[in-house]
Amino acid sequence: MARHIVARTSDIPPGGNKVFGVDGRDIVVFHVNGEFFALLNRCPHEGAPLEKAACVARLTSPEPGIYQRSRVGELLRCPWHGWEFDMRNGQSYFDPKRVKVRSYPVAIESGEKLQKGPYVAETFPVHVEDSYIIIET
Ligand code: FES
Repeated sequence: MARHIVARTSDIPPGGNKVFGVDGRDIVVFHVNGEFFALLNRCPHEGAPLEKAACVARLTSPEPGIYQRSRVGELLRCPWHGWEFDMRNGQSYFDPKRVKVRSYPVAIESGEKLQKGPYVAETFPVHVEDSYIIIET
């Protein structure tokens, strides 16, 4: 699995999202409740851009007249026909077994760690003594 550095965490404000082109796909990253979620920016129904989706709460009702909100902002309501999807895994609430938005793992890493990178060239200590350069191998 290839890793792609797409943005700073500060580039996406709380409650916002941003679309990135990655390997020929548009992936939308949402910033909700201090977490980041990445989904394919295409509704599996008829292809609406999910960057325009409303971020809503889960609403349940244990009995008539009583409503409970949970996971505020973590559910997406498609802008075209209102199908709803779980931001954490792309699962639909309309047809959870068959309809799903592709989701991608998101990792947050410090710039210091990324700067080091996975590829390191072999280096050797260098000392300067008078006018001679000495390389230790
Ligand atoms: S395109 Fe998303 S619900 Fe129809």
